[in-house]
Amino acid sequence: SDVLRVGVAGLGTVGASVVRLLTKHGEKIALKSGQTAEIKAVSARNRARDRGVDLSGYAWYEDPVEMAEKADIDVFVELIGGDNGPAESSVRAALSRGLHVVTANKALLAKHGVSLAELAEANGVSLNYEAAVAGGIPIVKTLRESLASNEITRVYGILNGTCNYILTRMEAEGLSFEECLADAQRLGYAEADPSFDIEGDDTAHKLAILTSLAFGTKISDESIYIEGITSITTADIQAADELGYRIKLLGVAQRTDTGIEQRVHPTMVPKASAIARIDGVLNAVAVDGDFVGEIVLVGPGAGGDATASSVVADIVDIARADKTAVLGMPAAHLEDYTRARMRLH
Ligand code: HSE
Repeated sequence: SDVLRVGVAGLGTVGASVVRLLTKHGEKIALKSGQTAEIKAVSARNRARDRGVDLSGYAWYEDPVEMAEKADIDVFVELIGGDNGPAESSVRAALSRGLHVVTANKALLAKHGVSLAELAEANGVSLNYEAAVAGGIPIVKTLRESLASNEITRVYGILNGTCNYILTRMEAEGLSFEECLADAQRLGYAEADPSFDIEGDDTAHKLAILTSLAFGTKISDESIYIEGITSITTADIQAADELGYRIKLLGVAQRTDTGIEQRVHPTMVPKASAIARIDGVLNAVAVDGDFVGEIVLVGPGAGGDATASSVVADIVDIARADKTAVLGMPAAHLEDYTRARMRLH
């Protein structure tokens, strides 16, 4: 059909941005994919809460599993969070019913990624998760598609926006850890339970996904060494500064002679290095491929709009399905080129 019907489960910061993005760019997406993506149903517990978006035109489900089982939709978007409970059961219900699934849930994928992938394959549907790693940075597609021809030897980076935001502001403004964390929560960067951010678990979940994509291994977050940033003080940051370093929370996965090593910990990086200059909510992911060399992607790693950008891109991919879009959309949809008048001064 010409309409791809979308159901959004979870209407927090990211969910509200997804609604706004699809409403604003629905027509552009139709041109790019040949199909209009329209929200038909939404699910969240609290119907009364003001989310700054108009939800009146959509079927409302208090229970996401019920939406997955009954709503008239083609794509189930899971933005609930958590590695079990309603997130897991609704995604399983959706895949089992033959719905495509888009999720931003790294904890769920780190824990159940393999069985969910198997379920999607068995039902002949897509399971897309660009937003699960590094928010707005297109690292999942980069590894899965663009770098598919390479043997990857290492993937590492700054994968948690909340931690990078905290470390950046502690250093630049001398603010306390608690103050910076409160601001990161207010800006919608932090997880519902921010201990996942600051203890390193969120970085570990994302690293587990990257490792699987990079090395072709089953997702596993069990063997990751994890150390967060809760013990980092302004004094540590100052001491590093005097020695010519900055402190960054890194996730690193690399192939070694004895297997694949995965670790998450605060790291002293030389001030002159590219990774040292990644500030605030930005994330950076570096990939070493044997033929391509090193690729580095930098961009916003958290926040509603940046994450929605990846969520909706996954919906566009589903709308495109097998249709060829050599230039990003069917050639017949391309507009005539208009040349800008040049201003020399
Ligand atoms: N809490 C996460 C972060 C959100 O701060 O990076 C994006 O996954």
